[in-house]
Amino acid sequence: MEKINNINHLQRSTKVKTVVITGANRGIGLELTRIFLSTGKYAVIAGCRNPEAATELTKLGEEDSNLEIKALDVTDQKSAETFAQSLEGKPVDVLINNAGIYVDKGKGVLDADFEAWEQTYLVNVISPFRMIKVLLDNLEASDQAKILTISSQMGSMSLPYSASHAYCSSKAAVNKGMQGVALELKPKGIAVAVAHPGWVQTDMGGTAADITPAESASGLYKVVEKFSLADTGSFYKWNGEIHPW
Ligand SMILES: NC(=O)c1ccc[n+]([C@@H]2O[C@H](COP(=O)([O-])OP(=O)(O)OC[C@H]3O[C@@H](n4cnc5c(N)ncnc54)[C@H](OP(=O)(O)O)[C@@H]3O)[C@@H](O)[C@H]2O)c1
Repeated sequence: MEKINNINHLQRSTKVKTVVITGANRGIGLELTRIFLSTGKYAVIAGCRNPEAATELTKLGEEDSNLEIKALDVTDQKSAETFAQSLEGKPVDVLINNAGIYVDKGKGVLDADFEAWEQTYLVNVISPFRMIKVLLDNLEASDQAKILTISSQMGSMSLPYSASHAYCSSKAAVNKGMQGVALELKPKGIAVAVAHPGWVQTDMGGTAADITPAESASGLYKVVEKFSLADTGSFYKWNGEIHPW
């Protein structure tokens, strides 16, 4: 039995790709980690701000040796560089920029809280680009690298929202920026997409949301598997449909 397990492990480890997921300790990021691991096709490098407090992620790591948990604050350049250096040049086949915040105060212009705006932009807009920059060598080392940034329908110009101007405009900004990155990285063979994960029952989405984190993550997994350089620069819904910009 032990021999069979060893052979299976060897067969598995020669085939597995590597996915980096940010904000992997809870919500959609945690479920993405679970789904990618469950396929047996991926090793997951899970970034989170505080690995010591990431109990569910730690439990997953105890059950599956294809999970590595690393400290990562996506807003902190030093933390992002240390995270990237710890990969020691290992190819990264998929980067999922999942970490995000929705600050639940000063949502309008009349009650705007500009510190909250700054923090929202730092996490939701600037950090996905920071992660691409620090991991570029690792992405280039993959045969078919893909970058998926978790955006939101709230950033779509075609849907009128008055929920939080900071959050909506941050997701619109990251969408536009990723469209440009798709063109910039196409010659390097790196495919880039953004996705709306659905309205999801997480700390951010709340309990009244439409779908579970597992439903969202399994849809997003299929999106990652499906998109390629041929459709780089696309905006997807979690169910694989194209989202209007
Ligand atoms: N839930 C929805 O309905 C919904 C809808 C549309 C889009 N989205 C997007 O989906 C993504 C995931 O959302 P979610 O619902 O899973 O949210 P969530 O439950 O609030 O989890 C957010 C995750 O992001 C991490 N994070 C925040 N700031 C970070 C930082 N500076 N460095 C590293 N990690 C950081 C959090 O880590 P800590 O535990 O350390 O805070 C946590 O792991 C976000 O980009 C969000 O905007 C969600």
